[in-house]
Amino acid sequence: MKLQTFLLALCPTATLALASLNGTLFQSTFVSELQDQAFNLDRLQYLAITSDPVLSVSSALNASQGPITYISALSAKTTGDQLRKAINGSLTKDDVFTDSFLGDVLVSASGPSDLNASVVDYLRGLGSNIIYAGAAGPTTCGNSTLVPCPLFAIADGKRLWLSRVERLYADTYRTFVTGTYESNGKYRVLTQSEARTGYPLIPVPSRLYSTDDNRALAGLRIGVKDIYDLKGIQTTAGSLAYTSVNNAAAKTGPALQRIIDLGGVVVGKQKTAQFASPASAWQWNDAFYPRSPRGDTFLSCSASSSGAGCSIAAYGWLDFAVGTDTGLSVRQPAAFSGTYGNRPSQGMILMDNIVTNAFNADTAGLFARDPAKWAAFAKSWYAPSLHQNTSVNGLPALSVPNDRTFPKRILYPVDHLPLQNPAAETILQKFLSDASAALNATVEKFNLTRTIENLVDRTLLNVLADLSVLWTHDLIKETANPLIAKYTPGFPPIDQPFRQVFRTVTVDDSTYKRAMANRTREAALWHDKVLFSTNDSCSEAIIVYDVGTGGLPSFREEDLNDSPGAAVPVDPRGPRAGSTTASYFGDADYTVPIGQVPYFSNVTFQNEMMPVTVNLVAKRGCDFVLFNLINELADRGVLKTVLTGKQAFAS
Ligand SMILES: *[C@@H]1O[C@H](CO)[C@@H](O)[C@H](O)[C@H]1NC(C)=O
Ligand SMILES: *[C@@H]1O[C@H](CO)[C@@H](O)[C@H](O)[C@H]1NC(C)=O
Ligand SMILES: *[C@@H]1O[C@H](CO)[C@@H](O)[C@H](O)[C@H]1NC(C)=O
Ligand SMILES: *[C@@H]1O[C@H](CO)[C@@H](O)[C@H](O)[C@H]1NC(C)=O
Ligand SMILES: *[C@@H]1O[C@H](CO)[C@@H](O)[C@H](O)[C@H]1NC(C)=O
Ligand SMILES: *[C@@H]1O[C@H](CO)[C@@H](O)[C@H](O)[C@H]1NC(C)=O
Ligand SMILES: *[C@@H]1O[C@H](CO)[C@@H](O)[C@H](O)[C@H]1NC(C)=O
Ligand SMILES: *[C@@H]1O[C@H](CO)[C@@H](O)[C@H](O)[C@H]1NC(C)=O
Ligand SMILES: *[C@@H]1O[C@H](CO)[C@@H](O)[C@H](O)[C@H]1NC(C)=O
Ligand SMILES: *[C@@H]1O[C@H](CO)[C@@H](O)[C@H](O)[C@H]1NC(C)=O
Ligand SMILES: *[C@@H]1O[C@H](CO)[C@@H](O)[C@H](O)[C@H]1NC(C)=O
Repeated sequence: MKLQTFLLALCPTATLALASLNGTLFQSTFVSELQDQAFNLDRLQYLAITSDPVLSVSSALNASQGPITYISALSAKTTGDQLRKAINGSLTKDDVFTDSFLGDVLVSASGPSDLNASVVDYLRGLGSNIIYAGAAGPTTCGNSTLVPCPLFAIADGKRLWLSRVERLYADTYRTFVTGTYESNGKYRVLTQSEARTGYPLIPVPSRLYSTDDNRALAGLRIGVKDIYDLKGIQTTAGSLAYTSVNNAAAKTGPALQRIIDLGGVVVGKQKTAQFASPASAWQWNDAFYPRSPRGDTFLSCSASSSGAGCSIAAYGWLDFAVGTDTGLSVRQPAAFSGTYGNRPSQGMILMDNIVTNAFNADTAGLFARDPAKWAAFAKSWYAPSLHQNTSVNGLPALSVPNDRTFPKRILYPVDHLPLQNPAAETILQKFLSDASAALNATVEKFNLTRTIENLVDRTLLNVLADLSVLWTHDLIKETANPLIAKYTPGFPPIDQPFRQVFRTVTVDDSTYKRAMANRTREAALWHDKVLFSTNDSCSEAIIVYDVGTGGLPSFREEDLNDSPGAAVPVDPRGPRAGSTTASYFGDADYTVPIGQVPYFSNVTFQNEMMPVTVNLVAKRGCDFVLFNLINELADRGVLKTVLTGKQAFAS
């Protein structure tokens, strides 16, 4: 590219310092293979995507560079007062744009005579140097409305090149594998980290760039679990062994592509337990286990989608995180981090180009802080055109109504509840009473284990043995075998949970087929007798349970869990796990935060708060009705937006 050639010719070394547009020296550093530029402004860090300028205008400015504000849609009628309000509006809406970009201002006008004098006076009053772009440069920042936005400008003596800027946030909780950003329509890795701490830097675009973009997810900043392929970026699956034998992804998976097509911006790949497994924090060798912002910051983030859950609990600058759930891998990280997270109905969205655990049980779910925004995102993401082929999961074709046919009964399983911590159970009881009042539903006790055993006429352990077959067959065939075939044992090593398993476990196809046939038959029974539809209710009942640790803290450090005041999660494959129900029958299962309880921390030696959540299980296909129910509860104040940081809720 012309611009790049110019830059390289000008500065073969790593640091670029040119006169700034307003006269001082403005310094930046080349980063990434594209020689994009990182710079500091008022102690904040930025990335200028100079490899992909969005606009260039003819300009006689001498070689110089620096931050700039672009103001489009200025007309002779615009007044200084309107501009002041517009600039203040942009500063309020965006965490990328700051006053420091106002030293130089590029306006969509040919000269002062195109503007109302009050505009010129106002800008001069701010101390801005005004650069005239000519009549109307098209822009990324909204051309129909007056939306001043931040850019980075480089003058080469003939033209002024304008590029998008992204703010670089330090991943202080270590929830990301790497930051990513887009240039020329392709995703790139940002390998930069903060020099003092080693925290990865995560680039987020200005929110003002999506002002005129009407797509459902326009400009939303999204973290993605690092088992989703993103074209051009290395997928690590949390394993250096896997990384060592695989190239950068050749294709973006359809589930992730849909988010990008709807305007979502992938700001980074996020930490996962190796191969999205249920490995504990202390079993991680290849990556630093993510830190939870909650409580004493030593709480567990759960296992496979751990980076996703804890990042949403940690960072206001991140809007959503995308994970996967086979056994509980969205549901439990949401519970531990006190965020919203859903396992959708089996078959809801294609799982191609995602590291496979089980075609029949893998699902793609979403983490969020705000219940209404969570519901809106999920509804636009899960398109009927992306439903899985039924041959993949042995379940009927999915139909997903979007109405308000709410359940009549809330089922309380006496074999899974009450919660171990009485203070947490009090919060659950309050939620149940509020929810039953809001929905005109009754709360009924039942025995989940007995219900399943009576229904399928075999023991729960027998059913779970089938589920284990369903979970293992594709993991070995699709993930373990190709890895082992290419991999020389030694360095880098595979973590303990898989080291032997990947070499020794096999599941023969006939056992797999019988387990699938059992699933097909028993899911049909379940959806006829237990979670069924009526004319009035998509799911006549919903089941509540806890995918967390019953209101007791669970820690990243193994020894801290030995105390009676703490707990380790129950075996996600065992009879005490409520999460297996949705995984086997294919139901929708959502984790929702409902409160918090104190615990005495043996890390900080003071009382800390940990979140309390509940899971809601609805009949397969009732995902959108369940989201409508969530909206109803949010409208009535029963569910609330959770906060980032130490506490999910204000005290
Ligand atoms: C460009 O630089 C030359 C030489 O330093 C100087 O004479 C001239 O005034 C500068 N032009 C502008 C537009 O700043
Ligand atoms: C410029 O704006 C002022 C208000 O600030 C207004 O009174 C005046 O008519 C405007 N001038 C033109 C030429 O539009
Ligand atoms: C924004 O508005 C406030 C008060 O309304 C004012 O003090 C401030 O100067 C404005 N900032 C800019 C950049 O216009
Ligand atoms: C140039 O702009 C920057 C950023 O607004 C400001 O800090 C600096 O003082 C300006 N320099 C001159 C010479 O105006
Ligand atoms: C505004 O920008 C968009 C995208 O850059 C473009 O499609 C549209 O035509 C522009 N509208 C006007 C009024 O310039
Ligand atoms: C679903 O998969 C089966 C088996 O692979 C195939 O025969 C069938 O054509 C597929 N159906 C659709 C709609 O793609
Ligand atoms: C519950 O019943 C009340 C009164 O009978 C009614 O106003 C309300 O709309 C019902 N709520 C729902 C969610 O159906
Ligand atoms: C639930 O049912 C199972 C199987 O019948 C039984 O073993 C268990 O004791 C029951 N639990 C409760 C709390 O009733
Ligand atoms: C399938 O269900 C039958 C009972 O209906 C059971 O005997 C068998 O173990 C189950 N699983 C497999 C893989 O056959
Ligand atoms: C449910 O709706 C169908 C079709 O509208 C109707 O035939 C049937 O009688 C209804 N069932 C009940 C229990 O109301
Ligand atoms: C902290 O340590 C004390 C003393 O060993 C123990 O009783 C308590 O349960 C511990 N707290 C937690 C939350 O583990």
